[in-house]
Amino acid sequence: MPDPLVFFDGTRVLSKQDWSGRRRTELKELLQHYMYGYLPPRPERVESSLVAVHKDFAGGLGTMKLVSVLTGPPGAPVIDVLLLVPNQRRGPVPVFLTMNFCGNHAVVEDPRVPITRSWVYASCRGAMDGHASEAGRGSQAAEWAVEKTLERGYALATFSSGDIDSDRKELSDGVYAWLARQKNPGGKPTPEHRGSIAAWAWGFHRVVDFLMTEPNLDSQRIAAVGHSRNGKTALLAAALDERIALVIPHQAGCGGTAPSRTKVGESIEQINSVFPHWFCRSFKEFNKTPEKLPFDQNALVALCAPRPVLFSNAEEDLWSNPPGQFSVLKAADSVYKLLGVDGLETEEMPRQGELSSGKLGYFIRRGKHSMTPEDWQAFLAFADRHFNVKRR
Ligand code: GCU
Repeated sequence: MPDPLVFFDGTRVLSKQDWSGRRRTELKELLQHYMYGYLPPRPERVESSLVAVHKDFAGGLGTMKLVSVLTGPPGAPVIDVLLLVPNQRRGPVPVFLTMNFCGNHAVVEDPRVPITRSWVYASCRGAMDGHASEAGRGSQAAEWAVEKTLERGYALATFSSGDIDSDRKELSDGVYAWLARQKNPGGKPTPEHRGSIAAWAWGFHRVVDFLMTEPNLDSQRIAAVGHSRNGKTALLAAALDERIALVIPHQAGCGGTAPSRTKVGESIEQINSVFPHWFCRSFKEFNKTPEKLPFDQNALVALCAPRPVLFSNAEEDLWSNPPGQFSVLKAADSVYKLLGVDGLETEEMPRQGELSSGKLGYFIRRGKHSMTPEDWQAFLAFADRHFNVKRR
């Protein structure tokens, strides 16, 4: 993998200043130009509208806020956020921010969470023609550890990717479609301008805009989490926005946490043919020659330095290349060292069930591609360590 401490023109990064100034800017530009496409512009104003507050979530364990984040004038994407804040802790609390697949109503059983209006995957329980239904309520609750998260003193904010861009190669109905219509009323987004991962990362940023305004949340301790394609998104969002203080791209694999230069698991040629809309058009030019990319995925981790990053995996999830992901962390470590912090503190891939120490964490459990409460145990342990949260 190319060394993040070497500029595009071949000269070396010699100081922290070189890194924080010119090289970071260059990498952000290269990643968007060749791979993800450019993120939509930051809106001039982001407003939020409070839909409801219920102080008795899960028998009083937390307060549930339902909020709509308005990313622009009428017609611009509206992101519905489910925010759960623990009642038992005083003072601003750290928050996990996650993007979900099937709507906020699928994450918890609580009947007061509205069924999402946006497109959902056909694989979501109760989905019909891209629309969610009551049958989907709580359908993903077993994958999360919502109550445990609140008990451990963290807030949880979640939103659905469908609010920003539906995951369909033939159609873009979200933020890019809105932007195209802004330019001209019949305008359509073009493949050059479209990259769903970039759009979703922009969605993370807009929800961060809102979280920063919440007095009960600690704006310095926002952790982004996502599974698989949503993990690719969480990592890109953190790489491009330092307000995200910690990131956990879970089983994110190709186009996220796994190297593009690899013979293991998913290749960029495969991902580009099945999910062409996730990346910009230029990325396809590297299908057969990933070694020509002027960066690899270690560049994204390097952009997160010195912030904590946890790569979490499952042994049977070979498609997302667990050993390759370890090598990505290794290849980002030099930037952590340059900034004077401990990055990856282990030479060998940690054993199953063991969370490695250092700002660059690695965790692998038994089993398959999925998100489970065991994964959340690791997420919480990692966040406790780096956010300095004491167990009660
Ligand atoms: C597919 C895709 C992966 C992706 C995964 C997911 O398997 O090939 O790159 O991570 O879907 O999002 O679940």
